[in-house]
Amino acid sequence: MERKLLEMQARALADLEGAGSLDELNEIRVRYLGKKGELTGVLRGMAALKAEERPRVGQIANQVRDKIEDRLNERTAQLKDVIRRERLAAEILDITLPGTVFNVGRLHPLTAVTRQIEDIFLGLGFSIAEGPEVELDYYNFEALNLPKDHPARDMQDTFFITQEVLLRTHTSPVQVRTMERTAPALPVKIIAPGKVYRRDDDATHSPMFHQVEGLAVDRRITMADLRGVLQVFAQQMFGPETRTRFRPSYFPFTEPSAEVDISCVMCGGRGCRVCSHTGWLEILGCGMVHPRVLEMSGYDSGEVTGFAFGMGVERVAMLKYGIDDLRLFFDNDIRFLAQF
Ligand code: PHE
Repeated sequence: MERKLLEMQARALADLEGAGSLDELNEIRVRYLGKKGELTGVLRGMAALKAEERPRVGQIANQVRDKIEDRLNERTAQLKDVIRRERLAAEILDITLPGTVFNVGRLHPLTAVTRQIEDIFLGLGFSIAEGPEVELDYYNFEALNLPKDHPARDMQDTFFITQEVLLRTHTSPVQVRTMERTAPALPVKIIAPGKVYRRDDDATHSPMFHQVEGLAVDRRITMADLRGVLQVFAQQMFGPETRTRFRPSYFPFTEPSAEVDISCVMCGGRGCRVCSHTGWLEILGCGMVHPRVLEMSGYDSGEVTGFAFGMGVERVAMLKYGIDDLRLFFDNDIRFLAQF
């Protein structure tokens, strides 16, 4: 029995030396040490031994198993090392080659500008509201003091879906939806960014564009609050030197109404091509919320006042980055988009 064990050990060790792959090593492990392997077979024969011989043979069997196992582990480590070296040698490594450039995406300039606008107004205590792009005539026009036959509807050439459903032409309907939801609670201080649609298409107009609406309703809100908020906005958006001016204008949903200009971002107000030598650039429309709009949305116009404004995101982005064709935003040309 002892001889059998030693003979098996010699064979196993010889097999291990001859093994050329990890698979072969594994086969050897199974063949000698496995549940149905040779060693188990030999040990089964121990039952036939005399009781006093068993401990000694058992001890030898253990030694044989340990020896085979140790050698098996050594050979495995050796082979793994050989495999690793071969793989490294086969690799042609030239550390002077240029690396693989990984293209990191970035925000679309309009998304980036929208977020900047949002950040500025969040800092002033406004929160963000949203409304649907497919809107009811009621919210887009009627509740904003633009009844069906109102001539001011012509200012916003509209995509109608049905008589009463349309693509919103501005973000102002979010004013109404917000007030309806909030009334009679105070204060209301929201901005509403989003897409709007008009039948317009040239270098400075796109049938789809973006606006950010603003609305503040509370007791004793005045036009001075509107001026202050927009002045802070202009300086944070276009730089601390930026000045603003209000020009009288007309919107059916604000009274009085104004258009706001900023001092030209290109020439600082001295006059250049960008500002048509006026020194000023128009950036938004605004005014004090018309009492009728407040009433239709559920507020008592004797108690509260409000201001509202609406700015074009494309226009803000064009002025900020000196872009002269709005269509560039929608062409998806990486050469343009990668510049921001
Ligand atoms: N909704 C107007 C437009 O799109 C802008 C505006 C908003 C004017 C709020 C006054 C108050 O032209």
